[in-house]
Amino acid sequence: MNVNKTIEILLQESHRFPPNRSFQERAYVKDNSLFELANDFETFWNEQSKFLDWIEPFHTICDRSNPPFYSWFVGGKLNASFNCLDRHIFSGHGNKAAIIWEGEPGDRRTLTYRELWRSVNKFANALKKLGVSKGDRVAIYLPLIPEAVISMLACARIGAIHSVVFGGFSPESLRDRINDAQAKVLITADGGWRRGEVLPLKHDADVAISQCPSIKHVVIVKRGDFLLRVKEGRDHWYHRLMQEAPAHCDPEAMFSNDPLFTLYTSGSTGKPKGILHHTGGYLVWVNRTTQWVFDIRPEDVFWCTADVGWITGHSYLVYGPLSLGATIVMYEGAPDYPEKDRFWEIIERHGVTIFYTAPTAIRAFMKWGNEHPEKHDLSTLRLLGTVGEPINPAAWLWYHQTIGRGKCPIVDTWWQTETGGILISPLPGLTTTVPGSATKPLPGIDAAVLDEQGNEVPINQGGYLAIRKPWPGMLAGIWGDEERYKQVYWSKWENVYFPGDGARIDEDGNFWLLGRVDDVMNVAGHRISTMEVESALVSHPDVSEAAVVGIEHDIKGEAIAAFVTLKGGKLGDVEMVSKLKEHVANTIGAIAKPEKILFSVDLPKTRSGKIMRRLLRDIALGRVLGDTTTLADPSVVEFLKKKYEEQES
Ligand code: WTA
Repeated sequence: MNVNKTIEILLQESHRFPPNRSFQERAYVKDNSLFELANDFETFWNEQSKFLDWIEPFHTICDRSNPPFYSWFVGGKLNASFNCLDRHIFSGHGNKAAIIWEGEPGDRRTLTYRELWRSVNKFANALKKLGVSKGDRVAIYLPLIPEAVISMLACARIGAIHSVVFGGFSPESLRDRINDAQAKVLITADGGWRRGEVLPLKHDADVAISQCPSIKHVVIVKRGDFLLRVKEGRDHWYHRLMQEAPAHCDPEAMFSNDPLFTLYTSGSTGKPKGILHHTGGYLVWVNRTTQWVFDIRPEDVFWCTADVGWITGHSYLVYGPLSLGATIVMYEGAPDYPEKDRFWEIIERHGVTIFYTAPTAIRAFMKWGNEHPEKHDLSTLRLLGTVGEPINPAAWLWYHQTIGRGKCPIVDTWWQTETGGILISPLPGLTTTVPGSATKPLPGIDAAVLDEQGNEVPINQGGYLAIRKPWPGMLAGIWGDEERYKQVYWSKWENVYFPGDGARIDEDGNFWLLGRVDDVMNVAGHRISTMEVESALVSHPDVSEAAVVGIEHDIKGEAIAAFVTLKGGKLGDVEMVSKLKEHVANTIGAIAKPEKILFSVDLPKTRSGKIMRRLLRDIALGRVLGDTTTLADPSVVEFLKKKYEEQES
């Protein structure tokens, strides 16, 4: 039967997929014993910590004396790069492929564990020579090339705190992140490839650091033959530093609660937050979840398509799989370059067995058509995963049928930058999956759906997702802002973590994620706050006011609609629309470009002057307007609704 027909039938049947027998027999988790063990908090986490190599043992599993500041494996010492590299070499796996990499233009490299280890050692020494020491911050602004992983692990080796900034972010976004972290060194490249074009990373970095007094040195990886300016004394070529660097660098013994990295993410204000992760807890959690959820075995080839600029890249491209000694695939470019079958070609070429990507990508693949995956042999795949946003059942079923040939379990993994690793997900050898649901919390995770007062809501009723017990991968704080940490995550209920997502639990105990409940949008799986986009818009000289809402989008899940008033009461034209879109892309990054911009002489406000986003959302979604009685001037919203409908028709 035609795949699309099968999907239609499955959709009508609200299907359940029990784990398949052959997968289950060999699975790492195949029964409830981990869940049972997890009833004993101390014993459970103590057992899980043993999957890492510790330099010194810890004395306390979790210090809960000063909530919401929890410390994991207190007193213990370890090194993350040692756990990701040296120990695999000592156990005889030095010649195993660690990274199988493809650049967008078609160049390829494979690095064994030994080769990766050697580069990390040298680069760690190079960073030391540039004056980087334990506790210093290092910003990384690179394309998805092996040097990104080398840089992260080199920082970890010497105890420097890395702060990776996604290469698609604008110079301004890079500048703000560097300044917030007070980074001493920036690692960038002359350029990177995206859809056949060169991202001018060094050029953008130069713009950013002209306003970053903390940066003392810049390291440039040579990716191509791209033009750039080199500032003597400050800028250094990566390959030259590597030539001169000594071969061995002892891993620094880090306390479990020494910082490993910060990663900036959007919150409900305009200012991104530097989410801070400590070494021991984070590494235990990504190590265990990679094994439980992805069921990694020594012969697997694991491809997580995320960029290292996001938490998914940190946890399931770098630290999780490498700490397990797995082989990872890394691809620099776009999924439709040079053709729309690039991902399937990569899977076939390298024999990928586990594939982890975002629902936005899956929806795009669906739209591009089945002929692209059908051209390739995808029979090596045995497990599929999704992350970053809710997946609609139709996309889930397409993924299952077309990519997984009806044979691969799908793990829909719910988690956040703040949670460090996956918290809610099927376990592929154990869980009966339901398209659209992330199913159940992992062992040790006490998740619930609560109301405003902190009471559990009844079955199938929507409420707020809550995590009631600390877990090792949890964020340690927000860089430089204790108050914001307490207020954002811990002030809704007492000693309960509030992730900012809505959810419901069905009669089988499965969790259904209902999207963000704050002013954060999720555009193609990327978190962007409405205020960030609004402040980018009002920074344009012609704009007087702006309000931004998230609207539904077929592929991206959510897209951005902006309502803008211009100075002097003018209404903008098509040219102004593209100017403002570009302006937002230049200010934040292309991911934040609004899909729609509508001009108006005023915005709907309450009498006290507060913009009523609820009504703007009604307009943008073409819904019947909600209550307008509190508006200062009801004619504004009528005008906007009419204009919006005109534009749509
Ligand atoms: C959303 C990405 C539904 C959620 C790892 C969360 C999801 C935010 C899922 C975190 C999922 C992530 N189903 N929603 N499987 N995974 N989200 O920090 O709203 O970039 O709060 O971390 O993405 O995004 P972040």
